[in-house]
Amino acid sequence: MLNLGILISGRGSNMENILKSIKSKKIPINPAVVISNRTDARGLKIAGNLGINTEVIESKGFEGSRADYDKKIISILKKYGVTPENGLVCLAGFMRIISPQFVKEYKNRIINIHPALLPSFTGLNAQKQALEYGAKYSGCTVHFVDAEMDTGPVIIQAVVKIKENDTEESLSKRILKEEHRIYPEAVNLIARNKVRVFGRKTIIT
Ligand code: GAR
Repeated sequence: MLNLGILISGRGSNMENILKSIKSKKIPINPAVVISNRTDARGLKIAGNLGINTEVIESKGFEGSRADYDKKIISILKKYGVTPENGLVCLAGFMRIISPQFVKEYKNRIINIHPALLPSFTGLNAQKQALEYGAKYSGCTVHFVDAEMDTGPVIIQAVVKIKENDTEESLSKRILKEEHRIYPEAVNLIARNKVRVFGRKTIIT
């Protein structure tokens, strides 16, 4: 069984939903550790209450390079058995760019959720970007993390229709509902070894 590490920066609703889904939907993966880059991340308390190990490596004021910071993350992941061979890392609202070294060592072992239909609206405030663009549809994407931001092979996407009177808040809420559906589904597929990567494409077996 794979060991799961979840990286968060804030609210942690995707993290909470994945952890609860592992129990209720019997996803065959061991929730090993939740790591935050912020001491004040709300998700830390939620993870603690669910009996999951939590760790913090404060990124604010961290002296050293991005690669140095990620080395610390990697050493914690390994401490909990989340290795490249036997682990899966979920970025769940982890608002940091991952270093090329981390991506290389954990090739196709790090996944992310993004609140838009990639390749549209990458980076921050994706819901606001979709509204300002005047898009009629947006959604969310679970994808493998590669060396660029929000560019890795897509695993699952869900479409959300944009309403004329949508605000950033109302659209984000409907997208989040879909995030909570597809992120555990992606974890389940990987846990059951059902996702193959061929270049940019994934195939679900
Ligand atoms: C989610 O909407 C996630 O898709 C987004 O941050 C939110 C985190 O919420 N991630 C990104 O924008 C990454 N570029 P959560 O902490 O409640 O899971």
